[in-house]
Amino acid sequence: MAPNSHWRKGTGMRIEELETPVPVVDLDIVERNLKKMQAYCDAHGLALRPHIKTHKMPEMAQRQIDLGAKGITCQKLGEAEVMVDAGILDIFISYPLIGAQKAARLAALAKRATMSVAVDNTLALATVAAAAKEAEAEIGVLVEFDSGLKRTGVETVEQALLLAKAITEQPYLRFAGLMTYPTNAQTALFTAEAKLAFEEMGIPIPMISGGGSPGAWTVHEVAPIDELRVGTYIYNDRAMVGAGAASLKECAMHVWATVISRPSPDRAILDAGSKTLSSDLVAPEMGPGYGLLVDYPRAVITRVNEEHGTVDLSACRRKPALGERVRILPNHTCVVTNLHDSLAFTRKGEVVQTIPVAARGKTS
Ligand SMILES: Cc1ncc(COP(=O)(O)O)c(C=O)c1O
Repeated sequence: MAPNSHWRKGTGMRIEELETPVPVVDLDIVERNLKKMQAYCDAHGLALRPHIKTHKMPEMAQRQIDLGAKGITCQKLGEAEVMVDAGILDIFISYPLIGAQKAARLAALAKRATMSVAVDNTLALATVAAAAKEAEAEIGVLVEFDSGLKRTGVETVEQALLLAKAITEQPYLRFAGLMTYPTNAQTALFTAEAKLAFEEMGIPIPMISGGGSPGAWTVHEVAPIDELRVGTYIYNDRAMVGAGAASLKECAMHVWATVISRPSPDRAILDAGSKTLSSDLVAPEMGPGYGLLVDYPRAVITRVNEEHGTVDLSACRRKPALGERVRILPNHTCVVTNLHDSLAFTRKGEVVQTIPVAARGKTS
């Protein structure tokens, strides 16, 4: 979505004056969320390495670092390139990189920044090894293990050990530890077994990196991790509220939309559909629909087409009128960020800054 040109100045424009649909982020809430997570990590001796997937903005990464984060996490090389160009120089890529093109890009980054990468297979390890050799620079390598998500990650301690051993045998590579997502009871079981097995082989585990905002506030009780990678906590969303990890007052991002049609008493149509809200749902127990209309909590966004959001008002006593502007708490804030060229940041309802989403759309 193209930014409203008049946002840029941030000179006293109110949210109500912005053209819809428009994602708006409350900067006071962002600042409180950032400080709260850093304080939690400090209190429990955890290094914080925020995942930039939620904001995709060097400005926000810099704020996180200024508050005490040791570096950042990116999922894709394209995100890391944007961040390094902006002067963020300690980056972990939590994603297996495969192939010569990726090796060349990683090498270019390793010449300019302190890089570390996750691997769960020998092909990804060969890619990192080739990059480090080309750059003649050290790259940290973490072995990813699966803690139950059944996505990437080795499934056994033996596999982790074999990979770690292979890392230690490569010039320029440093075995930097183990990582997983999310962090849970299975993380604790795996790491306990790994510590024993690695010790026996004489390979110390320098660090264990865990992640995930929904479980962040109790992670110190759940698993013995050293580093926390969290992204969503900066803005929060309906999934975080549903998980009991954030309150509505801690949700910084809302999408403002306009009721563009009221074809029947129980149906409203919004100017925000999947291009604005995404088509992500939350777990059924967290609530129905494609976002929460915060001022009409019984309304349900039952369908999203690209440009239309269909709202079922049958359970509402009070109903939004044609032309009314409504505020939607997105189900999943990270994907909403990725759909927009820039975000409007506000304080007390006034737009103070518009920031481009510089690392949006980086699929490789
Ligand atoms: C590998 C990895 N680490 C950390 C995170 C951060 O998770 P959250 O946004 O829940 O904090 C994610 C999120 O997808 C992830 O995939």
